[in-house]
Amino acid sequence: MSDEAPPARAARTAAVIPAAGRGVRLGPGAPKALRALNGTPMLIHAVRAMAASRAVSLVVVVAPPEGAAEVKNLLDAHALPERTDYLVVPGGETRQESVRLGLDALPDGITAVLVHDAARPLVPVDTVDAVIEAVRDGAVAVVPALPLADTVKQVEPRPGGEKGEPEPVVATPDRATLRAVQTPQGFDRDTLVRAHTTVTGSVTDDASMVEQLGEPVVVVPGHEEAFKVTRPLDLLLAEAVLARRRANDGF
Ligand code: CTP
Ligand code: MG
Repeated sequence: MSDEAPPARAARTAAVIPAAGRGVRLGPGAPKALRALNGTPMLIHAVRAMAASRAVSLVVVVAPPEGAAEVKNLLDAHALPERTDYLVVPGGETRQESVRLGLDALPDGITAVLVHDAARPLVPVDTVDAVIEAVRDGAVAVVPALPLADTVKQVEPRPGGEKGEPEPVVATPDRATLRAVQTPQGFDRDTLVRAHTTVTGSVTDDASMVEQLGEPVVVVPGHEEAFKVTRPLDLLLAEAVLARRRANDGF
């Protein structure tokens, strides 16, 4: 244990890592979070990314329902900083349900929560710390995000989506007002728990549930290395980022 005073006087921060998805878009193989990047499971990279922040005292991993024991073994086998505890709980059918199961496992005394996709294994610690700092400064919900590189069109979706027939364009939102959001998203614990117990309907991130409560959500700068590993090409990009880090600082 370090003998420094903990950075959090008021806030104790935990990270919930939903890792229970199958990774259908990545193609056949092990559950996405257990796929290796440069020999280490993606989930371990993601857990280390959270534990790298001195403010994070607990990591709750939400494992594939059948894989909780395997995930526990993996975490036991990979060293984390001594200041970081971890718990493993089985996940659910949807990301939303998995996050809720992770929140249910939080002990008393945790006042701030990060929710971080296992599928974003390479988020830099500075981004994690920026999110935590904004929560500690009083924001109830904080989202790291980046401006868009592509122009976005709103369409009338047709069956088959990307591979289907041409889709009529409805509108072109002003790109300058749009942001692509990442994780970790940071929250006041009570607000996030309230969102997960009262908001129904499917969503793709946690902050949008807090928006539905009518609570304010703010954006802080995200990072290009916080991209989500979704399709096979993303695995190549992730391994290239790791190779660059190793070359730059022997990490
Ligand atoms: N997730 C989860 N429980 C689910 C579904 C998703 O914990 N039932 C997690 C994933 O493990 C991932 C994060 O939510 O870390 C973001 O989801 P996504 O990138 O969509 O991952 P998958 O659902 O695994 O991928 P796919 O949609 O391609 O199957
Ligand atoms: Mg998914």
